Amino acid sequence: MDSSRAYVPDDLGSTEFLADPYPLYRAFRDGPPVYFKRIPAGAGPGIDKPIYAWGLLKYADILAAVRDPEAFSSNTPSVMTMVPRFTLLHDDPPRHTLLRRLVSKAFSPRRVSDLEPWLVRVAGELVDKLGEGPTEILDGLARPLPMRVICALLGIPSDQAVTFRHWSEATIGYAGIPAEERRQRIGELHAFLGREVAARRAKHTDDLIAALVEAEIEGARLNDAEAVGFCMTLLVAGNETTTGLIGNCLHILAQEPELWRRAREDRGLVEPILTETLRYASPTQRLTRVARRTVEIGGATIPEGSLVDVVYGAANRDPAVFSDPDTFRVDRPTSEGLAFGSGIHFCLGAALAKTEARIALNAMLDRYARVELGAEPAVRQRVAFATLNFVSLPLVLYKR
Ligand code: HEM
Repeated sequence: MDSSRAYVPDDLGSTEFLADPYPLYRAFRDGPPVYFKRIPAGAGPGIDKPIYAWGLLKYADILAAVRDPEAFSSNTPSVMTMVPRFTLLHDDPPRHTLLRRLVSKAFSPRRVSDLEPWLVRVAGELVDKLGEGPTEILDGLARPLPMRVICALLGIPSDQAVTFRHWSEATIGYAGIPAEERRQRIGELHAFLGREVAARRAKHTDDLIAALVEAEIEGARLNDAEAVGFCMTLLVAGNETTTGLIGNCLHILAQEPELWRRAREDRGLVEPILTETLRYASPTQRLTRVARRTVEIGGATIPEGSLVDVVYGAANRDPAVFSDPDTFRVDRPTSEGLAFGSGIHFCLGAALAKTEARIALNAMLDRYARVELGAEPAVRQRVAFATLNFVSLPLVLYKR
């Protein structure tokens, strides 16, 4: 290893860190970008020595990096990040520019707003089933709602949502699914989506997959592989993250009974609560870029070809931008910070995610006078590299 690199907090990749990354962000954010062991040797096929990455923790450094796709590419080699490639998310200009224009045509604000009445009904049905008393809110609401939404968008019947979920969990890369089975499930999902795309080419339907295959800009269209790849991106980008937003928000509110009471009376608080959740407990904690050339940033010289993690979760607690950053406050000037990224890769589903979470939270506020943490402790996700989420979030619900 190059001894000129100041320090190597190996634990930035540890499971403890993934469950609660904030103490480490605080410890290292004032200094130059960190350099740490990202993937241990032997973690995957072809990884015979550890893979290191730079981590940007300051808001200003991250903003500079993501606004400069010339220097910081999203086209990260999957063998180095152990994440499959996803259309759009891992593309650079000029290909990204064209793909983004094409999918934005299909994934329009209108498509999101058209979903609203249906979403209110589905969220209401899910919350009604929770009843009163102890519940596992991830199973009852935070997981099924985003999955139902993606299925509805894509035009996949909701009775297939469970199979779909089984496949997409493998795509997201849950630990505990053996590599061979993971590959098999991803293969099945690919084949399924391929058939759906082919069916839309044969016969028009009124859904996002049809809109994707029909979108055309100056004679350019998505081919089958790109359309399937983008559906995979939606599954990964839109599910786990929105589950994280709903779960993280309810976890916070279960510990803030006064805020719950106020929000029940004044629904104008719902939006600031969600915005502050996105900042305070950002579901997408970090994503990776690769340096296309040697770059100077935040006092470090990052050599060409290095992996660079943009740690959005750390930026959103940066005291240079947010006063009293480690306190959850709904009265701050509203900003979700970099929770949805910035620049050309800014989250395409931000409006949809906020709509889903707003409707879910309103459905809970409509029905419950109080929400408390359950007797069993909530368990944080410790496997997915990029997200801050729960694997288990027991709550107790009170109607009066
Ligand atoms: C609270 C929920 C969500 C969070 C926190 C979130 C966060 C993000 C972030 C940080 C990025 C930027 C990626 C980068 O910098 O490389 C992103 C991109 C993206 N998100 Fe989201 N997302 C959420 C929900 C959704 C939903 C519901 C969808 C769609 C159904 C979605 C679709 C996408 C897509 C397609 C991209 C790629 C855009 C591009 O590369 O041009 N996201 N998201």
